[in-house]
Amino acid sequence: MSCVSTDLRGVRIAALTLTLVAAIQPASVLAQRSVTIPRDSLVPLLAPKVPLPSEAATASVTKFSFIAYGDTRGRHDGVEVQAEHTLVVESMLGTIKAAASSDPIRFVLQSGDAVVNGSVATQLAVSYVPLINRLTQDGGVPYLLSVGNHDVGNSVDLTDARRLAGLRNYFTVNANLIPAEGTPRRLKGYPTYAFGYGNTFFIAFDSDIPADEVQFAWVKAQLDGLDRKRYVNIALFFHHPPFSSGPHGGATLETQAATIRSKWMPLFRVHHVRLLLTGHEHLYEHWVERYSDASGVHRIDQIVSGGGGAPLYLYTGEPDLRAYLDGNAAQKVSMQHLARPSVDPGANPFHYVVVHVDGVKISLEVVGVDWGRGFTPYRSSSATMSDSTP
Ligand SMILES: [Fe+2]
Repeated sequence: MSCVSTDLRGVRIAALTLTLVAAIQPASVLAQRSVTIPRDSLVPLLAPKVPLPSEAATASVTKFSFIAYGDTRGRHDGVEVQAEHTLVVESMLGTIKAAASSDPIRFVLQSGDAVVNGSVATQLAVSYVPLINRLTQDGGVPYLLSVGNHDVGNSVDLTDARRLAGLRNYFTVNANLIPAEGTPRRLKGYPTYAFGYGNTFFIAFDSDIPADEVQFAWVKAQLDGLDRKRYVNIALFFHHPPFSSGPHGGATLETQAATIRSKWMPLFRVHHVRLLLTGHEHLYEHWVERYSDASGVHRIDQIVSGGGGAPLYLYTGEPDLRAYLDGNAAQKVSMQHLARPSVDPGANPFHYVVVHVDGVKISLEVVGVDWGRGFTPYRSSSATMSDSTP
């Protein structure tokens, strides 16, 4: 029997090896949980049956849909396939199938925290990869992961050993899915990349290290060089929400959120970014930031969707916005908390989001899973992210 302990955000988490499981589990249970892939090797996720098209191939597309979600880590990562995440993936497969002939889902975005400890290859190989392969094979769709704190060791130090091991595993697992290193849409050595689909440009960046100047400069250059005649919408997906009201937000202001507020939000306003898709909080909430500049009044919709299977969180309180609003008063920045999570555990279910792009109109539909079916965070399950459309 052996036991490996890791310490993530002050919480002691024990990852027990299969030897320990064998000692406490009846053989019949083990048979049900058996996984046929080698447990000590990490292989890339299978390339999607329908690969992400080249940017040129979708240049004329102005209407499409995709799925976004986050925080899939499970209680038994490294031991068995993620059980709660399985419920979410099976619901997604149903959505993908149902939409295939009318409004196909083109890809799935995941905003981070794939497993409890991404530096442990076994956790990805046993608990995560087989499940995501169902999306890329049965669903046929590309799957694009942005890194969360659990994926890269909760460290802002670029040389941290656990961060480096997590990054190595991330690059291995996602080799068939994210843009190849050395190409213009990928930052060398970072899990930071971009792609265009139709009229919308997507960027994933590592929000564990938001102060990193190399990464910031790369994202800024992507935005500065963007053909805005084609890409009328810009969306970013990353892990740490700048504003949230769960245990990572409310009265707490984590370093990453503070840096995103001060360093990244001004960049997003300059480029009229439309949508931020984040997680980290295992719940659902929606913020709308409005601001004015020489071209008029704009909004950035900020979705926090961490309902992919990780242990669910509750509302803890509103964040203190005074410094942010005062500091950005010149742009008349205001914040609206459009959808709030609940203090009731029965009202924050596992979920994912289906995003619909139609020209400059972007709308979304939140899909509750398992006992959360019928989840209505807006009193309905959908929202249109526009001030000009009712
Ligand atoms: Fe997280």
